[in-house]
Formats: sequence, structure tokens, C-alpha cells
Amino acid sequence: MPGFQLTPDIAVDMGTDSTRIYVKNKGIVVNESSIMMLKGNGKKAPIVAIGDSCEEFIGRANSEFRIVHPIRSGIIVDYENTQIMLNYYITKAIGTLFHLKPRVVVTIPGNVNTVQRQSVINALTKIGSRQIFVVEQAFAAALGTGLQVYEPQASFVVDIGCGTTEIALISMGGIVSSASIQVAGNVINEMIGQHLKKRYGIDVTERATEQIKFDLTDVREEENIDRIVVVRGRDMATGMPFTQDVKTSEICKAIRPALMEIIGGIRRILELTPPELCIDILKSGIYLTGGSSLLPGLDSLIVSELGIPVSVAREAGECTILGAGYLADHFDMLSNRTEMLKSR
Ligand SMILES: Nc1ncnc2c1ncn2[C@@H]1O[C@H](COP(=O)(O)OP(=O)(O)OP(=O)(O)O)[C@@H](O)[C@H]1O
Ligand SMILES: [Mg+2]
Repeated sequence: MPGFQLTPDIAVDMGTDSTRIYVKNKGIVVNESSIMMLKGNGKKAPIVAIGDSCEEFIGRANSEFRIVHPIRSGIIVDYENTQIMLNYYITKAIGTLFHLKPRVVVTIPGNVNTVQRQSVINALTKIGSRQIFVVEQAFAAALGTGLQVYEPQASFVVDIGCGTTEIALISMGGIVSSASIQVAGNVINEMIGQHLKKRYGIDVTERATEQIKFDLTDVREEENIDRIVVVRGRDMATGMPFTQDVKTSEICKAIRPALMEIIGGIRRILELTPPELCIDILKSGIYLTGGSSLLPGLDSLIVSELGIPVSVAREAGECTILGAGYLADHFDMLSNRTEMLKSR
């Protein structure tokens, strides 16, 4: 029953890179970095900035300040600061209505243990959530892609984010098999950084390695249009600023192990797939979501390695929050799966 509602239902996706909040019937209202800047080192260090407003300070602030990532690989690693960040974003999303206690759909990675899951629930309860519905990120991503997850035919989704890659085979509103591997955008950036250290002896910022990644025209070395990128960093021997020309083909080679690890994870889930569902997947293919699915050529690499069609979802970076948002739009039906089956 639609009924009058004081506090909107919301969905929250706390990603390693970005936190996104969806407000019922409105859409995504917050999409900001999951970072905070603190002054000093104590536990109660004052917060200087939260989210995108920290960006301008990254790598520039003096030693008095530090950047904190309260979410790592989709898991809360700094409980107090996560709570502060969540409170800030939810207030930003629904403003002063927040004291009226929203109902929240929250996404979590597939491999969290009960303590990690409980810590997400506790953080949301502590800041005033009235009711919490937890959904696995891959399931939310499939919903947000528009896949018919409540039908008997199978869907296969791979959400390649910043800290984790979530792989799931879904049928009839549930996950048949899944895997969560901690190889995604961050590891790809690290591999670029390690290559530059090993080959040229230069130390570059995380932001610089990410920029190099964005410069690739194709992750497949043979398809990449080889170009020279100018990399600025610090010479590890002299400690002096240093500039180095680097070929993008070298970068493709350096990140290949990470991509093959993701493909290995997909292969393992496919191997566990029952034959009837395999036929569905051969027809419908694999759907890629998450920011790292936008790596050019990654879809074609997966096709050539696994021989199954692959599509990159529209709005790939937002599929998880859009799927969680779909559930928030239908919060009243969440306890009644039959209704959810009908609604899609
Ligand atoms: N065009 C692009 N090409 C390659 N990588 C990209 C592109 N756009 C974003 N990324 C990468 O996507 C990652 C962020 O993806 P996403 O927003 O899905 O992560 P997240 O949901 O915050 O993290 P997670 O779900 O892993 O906890 C970053 O590593 C970023 O470098
Ligand atoms: Mg994510």
C-alpha cells in the first residue's frame, strides 16, 4: 500500500572507491569518494573533509593531515569513521528528515563474514536506520543491469569495482554460486606502480597510476594503439622529481596477471554451473558492471579466453546502487518474495 511516508526509503552502496546513495523515487542523490581527511593521528582526530572535497588535498597535504579510506575491498575497516561518513552522506541525501529514521537497503560483498556483515548493520543502526535489508552486491548489480533475476533462466554478472570483483550466477531471485576476489581497479593500479618501480626505479602516486590506466586504448597488448605516456614521479635512487616516457604496451603486459585472475574467477564459477543454466549463459552471455568493467578491451579479452558472449552494462559504474535502489523502491515487498517475483 503506497501510504503516506515521512522518511524516504533509501539504498546505500559503500564501495571501496565511491559511496552512493539512492533515495526512493528520486534516484542517485550522492555519488562521492569513500575517503576522509583527518588532522593529526589520534583516534579522535578532527575531520577536515569528507568525500570529493578531499580530492584536491590528495598527495598535497603536509604530514599533519592524513587521508583515510574507511572501506577497503568493500568491507568496513575503520568503524568510527565509516559511521561519520555514512551519517554525513545520508544527511546530505535526505537532509533534516534523517532524524525520522529511514529504512535502508545496503549492499555488501559476497564473501563477508558474519562479523563484517554485522558491522555494516551496526553502523547503519547506530546512525538511526529503522529497518535494514542487506543485499549482495552482485545481485544488486544484476538487478540494476535490468537482468530478469527473478525468472528461472540464469543470469551471470561480474561486478569489477575498485577493491573487489564480485562474480555471481543468479536464477529465480537467488544466487546459485558466487565468488568474491580481491582483484579489481586498485590491484591494477598497484601493478602499474610496481612495474614502474621495477623497470625505471620511479615511485609514482596512486592517482598517476590510475591516469596511466585510463590512457590505455585496449587492455590487449596486440590491440592497444601503442603510445608514449609521460609519467611523472620520484626517482627512488636520488629522491628527485623525475619524468619518464613509458609505452602503453608495457602497461598492458604489466596488468595482464590481474585480468587473468579475474577471468580465472569467472571460469571457476562457470565450471560449477549446472548444465541447464550453462545453456542459458551461453545464450545470454556474461554481463560486466562496475567501474573497472570500462577498461577498454576487457570484454573482448574475456570472450577470447572463455568463448562466451560478454556485454558491458549500460551505466556500469552505477548498476549496484540502481539495483539496490530498485529494492528500496519496493521495500514493502522485500519480506514477500512472491510479490518480488511478480514485480519484475
Ligand atoms: N573508464 C574507466 N576505465 C578503467 N577503469 C575505470 C574507469 N572508470 C572507473 N574505473 C575504475 O573503476 C574503479 C571504481 O569502480 P567502482 O565505482 O565500481 O568501485 P566501488 O564500487 O567503489 O568499489 P568496490 O565495489 O570494489 O568496493 C576504480 O578502480 C577506477 O579506477
Ligand atoms: Mg562496487
